[in-house]
Amino acid sequence: MSNDNNFEKRGVDYSIKHGERTLPGKYYHDEGIYSEEVEKIFYKFWIYACREEELPNFGDYKIIKVEDESIILVRDKENEVRGHFNVCRHRGTQLCAEEKGSFESKNIQCPYHAWTYGLDGKLIGAPLMAKEDGFNKEDCTLHHCHVHSWEGFIFISLSENPEPFEVQMEALVDKFSDWRMGDLRIAHHIEYKLDCNWKLILQNYQECYHCPGVHPLLSQLTPFQSAQHDHSKGAVIGGFMELTKERGSMTMDGEAAAPPVCDVSGDDLQRIYYYSLFPNMLLTPHPDFVLFHHITPKGPGSITNNCYWLFHPDVIADKTARERIKSAVDFWDLTNRQDWTVCEQMQKGTGSRRFTRGYYSGQEDILLALDKELLKALGHDESN
Ligand code: FES
Ligand SMILES: [Fe+2]
Repeated sequence: MSNDNNFEKRGVDYSIKHGERTLPGKYYHDEGIYSEEVEKIFYKFWIYACREEELPNFGDYKIIKVEDESIILVRDKENEVRGHFNVCRHRGTQLCAEEKGSFESKNIQCPYHAWTYGLDGKLIGAPLMAKEDGFNKEDCTLHHCHVHSWEGFIFISLSENPEPFEVQMEALVDKFSDWRMGDLRIAHHIEYKLDCNWKLILQNYQECYHCPGVHPLLSQLTPFQSAQHDHSKGAVIGGFMELTKERGSMTMDGEAAAPPVCDVSGDDLQRIYYYSLFPNMLLTPHPDFVLFHHITPKGPGSITNNCYWLFHPDVIADKTARERIKSAVDFWDLTNRQDWTVCEQMQKGTGSRRFTRGYYSGQEDILLALDKELLKALGHDESN
């Protein structure tokens, strides 16, 4: 993306200096570096988990897997979503094996010796465990996982003491309030399984240097030279591109898929925003819908990428709008697959003994910001 002078004013210097280099290839392949990333990033940062609408009712739950940890997200009777480690306090058995469902009894019971917990995590039943034996139920509450809801998106942090969500996501907090994303609903979802490192998907998302060759249709709708930095800070890094067609959007024919979302107006009617919420979410607000990706790493060389299309519920309910939603889905499914092909090829190439470090172009300065965020989190210095 091209440079924006305002960046220096904000004290963020992402500009490419002559000879700026990419990460060494080991960052995409090395098991040791991957383990460090899991420990220092995925177990520590706020990460995207699921949408509020996936847990509509009291007792509904969803299991979120973060590498070898498993978290139960459950909606309690106060309508809050709570997070618990999926680990019984008796002898450590995993409590819940199903990926999602509803706790009909409104409590969580271990399948082994039937210790029972309230949805708030408190131990309420432990057969034959007596106070006289020095046993205290209060000491056996399920281990807590931090939960934060923003605009219908639920984020979790597995850290015992995470920094506040508003600090990690400072640039995001009031950024897209006109979309009222909490009111939007999932109209479509596709799960992709890819053989590449998780960071290659973030990198690919944040530059359009590849667009003329890889995405001919996208390049007609939003010329790659239109890419701009936007307000970015820390873990929230992004920008926008301008639509060529008035009241257009990213669809197979370039026409809008729906009326503008909620309060979207002015310049936002002609922009597609691309925001990485480091480390595991990509958020793409369009004038008429919102696309987002949820990236789950499965080792250094593979990921699951769940892609969602959010529309206003009135549009989803309107049968005549189905073809237009499909046009938005087809456009991004086509574009996604074009991206996945080059990301998987890059995964292969960067594993070569001959690949050390590459060279960034002036179009790829956000990638440098992503690299810096990664190295800062890992405490690595790759400056030489
Ligand atoms: S391990 Fe859960 S009740 Fe025994
Ligand atoms: Fe792309």
